[in-house]
Amino acid sequence: MEEKLSSKVLVTGAFGMVGSYVDFGIKLDRRALDVADPKEVDSVFDRYQPKVVLHLAAETDVDRCERDPEYAYMTNSIGTFNVASSARRIGAKVVYISTVYVFDGVKGKPYLENDRPSPNNHYGRSKYLGELAVRDILDDYLIVRAGWMFGGGPKKDQKFVAKIIKQLQKDEIKAVNDKFGSLTYAKDLVSKIKGFIENDKKGIVHAMNEGSCSRYDIALEIKKATGSESKIIPVDSSYFNLDASRSNCDIMESLNGGAMRPWQEALDDYVKGEWIKQ
Ligand SMILES: NC(=O)c1ccc[n+]([C@@H]2O[C@H](COP(=O)([O-])OP(=O)(O)OC[C@H]3O[C@@H](n4cnc5c(N)ncnc54)[C@H](OP(=O)(O)O)[C@@H]3O)[C@@H](O)[C@H]2O)c1
Repeated sequence: MEEKLSSKVLVTGAFGMVGSYVDFGIKLDRRALDVADPKEVDSVFDRYQPKVVLHLAAETDVDRCERDPEYAYMTNSIGTFNVASSARRIGAKVVYISTVYVFDGVKGKPYLENDRPSPNNHYGRSKYLGELAVRDILDDYLIVRAGWMFGGGPKKDQKFVAKIIKQLQKDEIKAVNDKFGSLTYAKDLVSKIKGFIENDKKGIVHAMNEGSCSRYDIALEIKKATGSESKIIPVDSSYFNLDASRSNCDIMESLNGGAMRPWQEALDDYVKGEWIKQ
């Protein structure tokens, strides 16, 4: 099966946080394939003739997307349109990784695959437009929505979990306690996606580690895993002046086989396996 996946799957944006766990397929970085360039997408797909495109390439810095929406839509929306169009031309399936940020949090309860998206920042909107392109252009697609993502270890992790781990060396840190979400460990996500590709899964799936938490809960869990003596102080989100607005409820559940092991277990494995052993 390993050999089969290697020759038939092409991976875009393959050396980021999620891509670092992908051990199959033809892995291309931005220099080998810029998804914003439709001619390049066409010619690369012609050359490799993949049966499946695992589309990871994206601008994932939510605040950068807010500051530079043109760039966000060019990468996340137009880039995904280009990938879907070329995939259709050569008869390939697209597996597109989307995000809980397509929802605005107003529901106040966990979002399911059949809830209608309504993003409230440019990152969420640009990813949702990517979803619409995939759904409209292709018959054979899988959209996998991930929650707050962590993974990649010290080399690839630039997101909130890495920031908390680094800050836990200080005497005290502040962590937001008024916004809640589902976590997705990128390593668990990739093994889930591998199974989905092998089983030719279609449609929309929410893929997250079970349970929900605030950034404050996450900090407490990391403190436990690292044995840090740092004091963790809960604060409101207004304490950090971020460019993009965030919803109060980024919690997802799945009706479609996307749930993975509890977030505490996944986070513990990540911190102990990829940070402490460095
Ligand atoms: N990270 C999260 O919190 C999160 C949460 C939910 C869903 N997702 C989704 O999961 C997928 C994978 O994200 P990730 O966490 O692995 O993010 P990441 O670490 O930021 O990796 C994304 C990769 O895409 C590449 N890229 C950016 N623009 C490109 C372009 N025009 N053409 C080709 N490659 C390009 C980046 O390359 P450069 O290094 O050259 O910029 C980077 O290597 C994305 O679709 C993302 O939207 C992420």
